[in-house]
Amino acid sequence: MSAQIVCDTQDHVALIQLQRPEKKNALSTAMYAALADAFAAAQADTSVRVILIQGSATCFTAGNDLQDFLQQPPAGESAPVFRFLQAIATAQLPVVAAVAGPAVGIGTTMLLHCDLVYAAANARFQLPFVSLGLVPEAASSVLFPALIGYQRAAEYLLLGQPFDAHQAQHMGLVNAVIDAEGLLAHAMRVARQLAALPPGALRASKNLLKRAQHTLVQDALHSEGAEFRARLAMPEAHEALRAFMEKRPADFSRF
Ligand code: COA
Repeated sequence: MSAQIVCDTQDHVALIQLQRPEKKNALSTAMYAALADAFAAAQADTSVRVILIQGSATCFTAGNDLQDFLQQPPAGESAPVFRFLQAIATAQLPVVAAVAGPAVGIGTTMLLHCDLVYAAANARFQLPFVSLGLVPEAASSVLFPALIGYQRAAEYLLLGQPFDAHQAQHMGLVNAVIDAEGLLAHAMRVARQLAALPPGALRASKNLLKRAQHTLVQDALHSEGAEFRARLAMPEAHEALRAFMEKRPADFSRF
C-alpha cells in the first residue's frame, strides 16, 4: 500500500485516507493503484460493511497529479486511474466521503459515485477539464447533467466554474455541510450508523439504487476514457499542463 493512501478498518468501516499534503493530495498513478487495491481489499473482507474516503481537514484532493499526466499518462482501460474509477463506480459496499478544502477534477467527480457525501464549509469544488485541454471523466458527462440539469452542468464542466460547499449541497452532490473541525468525526459517525444496519439488505438496496444507471455509467466511462487518453497526447493539453508546472498562464492562441 502506498504511504500516501492510508487504510484502517475499525467497527466494520474501512477508512481510506489520502495523505500527500505537500501536493494537496494530488493523485499519482501509484496512489490510484493503492486506492483500487484498497477498494478490492475492503470488498473481499467480510468484516467490512462500509467504505469511508477522506482527505484531511483542509484538503480533499487537487485531482490527478498533473506532472503524471505529462510523464506517465494512463495507457489503456487497465491503467490504475481507470481501475480506481471502476472500483468506486461498481462498489457493492456503501461509500461515504468527507470533503474539506479543494476537491478538484476527480476530487469532485468521484463523489458522483459515493452514497453519502459530507463537506466542510471550506470545501471548494472545480472541474477544470476543458481548461486543461481534457474532457470530463468518471462518467461525470452523464451523471452531472442528470443531477443538476444540462445548462447548469455546462457551466461547471465546460467553463470550469468553481462552486462551494453550500452550492454543492443545493445541487444534491453533498448531503450536508459540516464545520471543518467536526467533519471527519461526523462522516465516521454516519459510516458506523450504516455499518450497524443489516448488511445484506444494505448492499442489496445500494445495488437497486445504482441499477438503472449501470449501463449508462459503463458506456460513459468507456467513451470518456478513450477521449481523455487521446486528448492527453495533444498539444493543447501539453501547453496547459506545462503552464501549470511552470506556474504561468496557459496560451492557447496558436491552436
Ligand atoms: N498535480 C500536481 N501537483 C499539484 C497539483 C496537481 N493536481 N495540485 C497542486 N500541486 C502542487 C503544486 O504544484 C505545489 O507544488 P510545489 O509546492 O512543489 O510548487 C503544491 O502542490 C501546492 O499547491 P499550490 O497550488 O501552491 O496550493 P494552493 O493552496 O495555492 O492551491 C489548488 C491549491 C488545488 C487550488 C491548486 O494547487 C490547483 O489548482 N491545483 C491544480 C488542480 C487541477 O487542475 N487538478 C487537475 C484536475 S483534472
